[in-house]
Amino acid sequence: MKLFVDTGDVKEVARAAEWGILDGVTTNPTLIAKSGRGFKETVLEICSLVPNGDISAEVVATDYDAMLAEALEVSSWAENIVVKVPLIEPGIRLVSELTRRDIRTNVTLVFTVGQALLAAKAGATYISNFVGRVDDLSTDGMEAVRDTVTMVDTYGFESQVLVASVRHPLHVLQAIQAGAHVSTMPLKVIEQLFGHPLTEAGLKRFLDDWNKAGLSILP
Ligand code: E4P
Repeated sequence: MKLFVDTGDVKEVARAAEWGILDGVTTNPTLIAKSGRGFKETVLEICSLVPNGDISAEVVATDYDAMLAEALEVSSWAENIVVKVPLIEPGIRLVSELTRRDIRTNVTLVFTVGQALLAAKAGATYISNFVGRVDDLSTDGMEAVRDTVTMVDTYGFESQVLVASVRHPLHVLQAIQAGAHVSTMPLKVIEQLFGHPLTEAGLKRFLDDWNKAGLSILP
């Protein structure tokens, strides 16, 4: 499963990138606004920090012509940019057109397998299925992910199912169990994946025993 960090903060991207395990970055208008910096400069810095990863940058227009103009502008900034498009009617039309032009897309704000079908048929590179926002309504957000993975596999769509709106490590586990292709999450959740009390206790014991014996590796 690919691992993306979900942030508009370049310092967070730099931290996740140094681990060498990052496959991409997702941003959205809220995250970019929160960064307090310009859209293009932020996206370009992220692209250079993760040159081999896919960097999602979202259009904000909601009518087709303006969305197309924004998509062409954004996709011209760097080769690893994926145009993020909301799942609205002109958005699906836009994804079909961008697919025709070989421009990669990430369809966002997807909550149902029916919406995912539209995105897959339009040729979306990624289908961003939000789970946390559905869980917030006391409903299982992962259900649509499971159904969408099955749909993509059953019909041989090329789209990759991207689990978004991830709030904690259990969502990551469930995304893996569902066979999702990608999971994007805040840096904090990636950091949580490192931790286990038995890892900490085990390492402490190893090092205590080693030091008590007065051993060393380097001469
Ligand atoms: C995905 O691309 C979105 O940016 C993100 O995962 C939304 O997460 P949220 O529901 O926690 O805002």
